[in-house]
Amino acid sequence: MSFEDLRTDNPLIDTEHKNLHRMLSSLQAVIAAGRDMDVILEAFMVMKERMRLHCEAEEDYARRIDPRACETLRAEHKRLMAEIDELRTHLTEPSVDRQAAVEHFLTSLERHDQQIDVPIFKRLNGTA
Ligand SMILES: [Fe+2]
Ligand SMILES: [Fe+2]
Repeated sequence: MSFEDLRTDNPLIDTEHKNLHRMLSSLQAVIAAGRDMDVILEAFMVMKERMRLHCEAEEDYARRIDPRACETLRAEHKRLMAEIDELRTHLTEPSVDRQAAVEHFLTSLERHDQQIDVPIFKRLNGTA
């Protein structure tokens, strides 16, 4: 999936989405390099905190324009954050394919960006 598919036309959110994808790539790189679990979990925590702030920013922005869109975002973000916690559990399990676990989360995140964020923010921006 390219960034074109994920473009919301809101420059702030598009920049944040790129940064989040970059952080997931960093997490994958740390895993691929065979780094210690504390380094992997540190990269994970940075990504999780960034994700939490991003979700909050999207909800705050939507709340001012369309409270119903905000509720949709809240519910979806709650689900995504639960997936992030599941990912943490997977990363610490010795027999789990960590790259596959990150890849699985990345797929969920891209689906969220494309199916939830893009239509909502294009509508709120007046570009859809
Ligand atoms: Fe987003
Ligand atoms: Fe979102």
